[in-house]
Amino acid sequence: MTLRLVHATDIHFYERPTFGQFSPKRILGGANLYVRGRVTHFNRQVQAQLVDAMLAAKPDAVVITGDLTAEALPSEFAAARAALAPLLEQIPTLVQSGNHDVYTYGASRARRIETLFAPWMHLGEGGLARFARPGLYIVGLDPTRPHVLASGRVPEAQLAALPDALAAAPDDAFVVLGLHYPILDRDGRVYEGLSHGLLNARALIDVLAAAPRKPDLILHGHIHHGFTVPLTLGDVTVPICNPGSGGYADMPARHRSASFNVYVLDGPKLLSIERYKHGPDGFTLEPGGAYASGR
Ligand SMILES: [Fe+2]
Ligand SMILES: [Fe+2]
Repeated sequence: MTLRLVHATDIHFYERPTFGQFSPKRILGGANLYVRGRVTHFNRQVQAQLVDAMLAAKPDAVVITGDLTAEALPSEFAAARAALAPLLEQIPTLVQSGNHDVYTYGASRARRIETLFAPWMHLGEGGLARFARPGLYIVGLDPTRPHVLASGRVPEAQLAALPDALAAAPDDAFVVLGLHYPILDRDGRVYEGLSHGLLNARALIDVLAAAPRKPDLILHGHIHHGFTVPLTLGDVTVPICNPGSGGYADMPARHRSASFNVYVLDGPKLLSIERYKHGPDGFTLEPGGAYASGR
């Protein structure tokens, strides 16, 4: 029996902060959003079409790998919750945090994302998410934290708990590792840069290489242009997939548009990847197959 796992990331619902919500970081971040024109990069209509298109893709399960919001405002989480309601209410879904969902120390300390999304975060022992469906087992890491350079770090407790969490998957399940941050960049280099990187990506690779049960697929976001890259773990090669931002406005001159992926699974096999990209006709299959556009 095949199973369709739908994956979106970095939808980035944006709301203008009220005067009282201007923290120093939001002022800087807000200045960046305006000065660099990034507000116009994300589009409410595309975000609404994304939810419809994900449902139309007939998912058995959905994973969202973080950055629901732009600045972790309560109003942004509320907008995300309302827009995603049709998915959350109908399809078993795993929601993960992105660094923008813990944008300020206040949002991080209050675990604001959990206020509205806790039932879909499936958090448990060691701070890991565990999401099980018949034939599918997803383990989620959370390396996000408020950091001025947008870097992440997988907490030691999560690294320590990861091998056992992966090994707990049923023998016949397809095993997925989900996290917001990339492990490798599109050229296969370890994504560990001080700015925007996953600082202990090498430690995570070492843990995965030594783990008795390896993931069959690794999913992430954070970089808004999608790519896929193989990760070599000893004699096993694991595909890593980033669909690219699901909330992007169309920017044809820059070859950018919103995207999401469908992984078609059969037992422990990844049969195919369908990648949908947004254009004048809404979300349609990427011509030539997933990642054929190179964007
Ligand atoms: Fe993002
Ligand atoms: Fe991010």
